[in-house]
Amino acid sequence: MRKLIIDCDPGIDDAFAIASAYLDPEFEILAIHTVAGNVDIENTTHNARALAHVLGYKGSINRGAKAPLIYEPFSAAEVHGNNGFGGYQLTELAPLSEESAFDSARRILLENDKITYVALGPLTNLAILIKAHPELIHKIEVISLMGGGIKGGNTTLAGEFNFYADPHAAHIVFESGIPLIMAGLDVTEKAYITTEDINEIKTNGRQLGELLYEISKVSFKFSKEILGHERVHLHDVMSVLALSHPDLFVTKDFHMRISTDDNFMRGMSMADRRPRSQEKPNVTVLTEIDRDKFRQLLLTRFTIGGH
Ligand code: BDR
Ligand code: CA
Repeated sequence: MRKLIIDCDPGIDDAFAIASAYLDPEFEILAIHTVAGNVDIENTTHNARALAHVLGYKGSINRGAKAPLIYEPFSAAEVHGNNGFGGYQLTELAPLSEESAFDSARRILLENDKITYVALGPLTNLAILIKAHPELIHKIEVISLMGGGIKGGNTTLAGEFNFYADPHAAHIVFESGIPLIMAGLDVTEKAYITTEDINEIKTNGRQLGELLYEISKVSFKFSKEILGHERVHLHDVMSVLALSHPDLFVTKDFHMRISTDDNFMRGMSMADRRPRSQEKPNVTVLTEIDRDKFRQLLLTRFTIGGH
């Protein structure tokens, strides 16, 4: 069984991703670490606890960084709602650990030989860990992260939200030497659900289905009104599926650098595509996804699956 730390900023697609990992018997989630991103740290932590309660998750939940390393906090409330869960109010919460995300990460790495990170938000917590405990990072087998995109950004021309929000953290992670799998916009924008799919999840997915349906409403509204389609991208789920179902994807290794510049390049993930480049690859990028298989897997998981 693969032991996971999930670092996240729930967030609607974060919720789908956490639930997806929880329902997969291949994973044991040791801790859920929160970070400020889609909304502030109070809300991302509240949402992680509310989802954990619905799932029946018994591992720890630890609060992480409340702001990016250098830049001011930048949120995506227009996509995820002011509370990060589309305004849906949940009051029953799993307990919050008194241990911070940083202490939790340090302890888990000391106690285990191999840990997999699933990183679904800005990479602030991981960057702090890498800088504070370089002697422990060899215990991280791989970081499967959602962020960036070879094709360009979604928040700005060049910047995908997670990398744009904390580019300095992304830069530190990409220079760390830790094996990385990147689910960027190249595949995550092909991994969407439709209104028909979410209705099926609601009808057949019990309390979890109801929650996913309710929190997704705001994203469907945003997609329809602003983007002109009725699809919601489940970006973060790809970082979970990259580990459990690698056969869904085509991948390619690249040497990649993240721009920290405070201009239109902020957060840009630049892949070295020169045929004769001498640079060593530092990331495996998901480049294609089988959307039909993904959809089938997702619907099966959320309408039948259970723990
Ligand atoms: C990423 O940004 C957030 O809004 C989503 O949760 C996802 O992690 C997509 O760019
Ligand atoms: Ca996220």
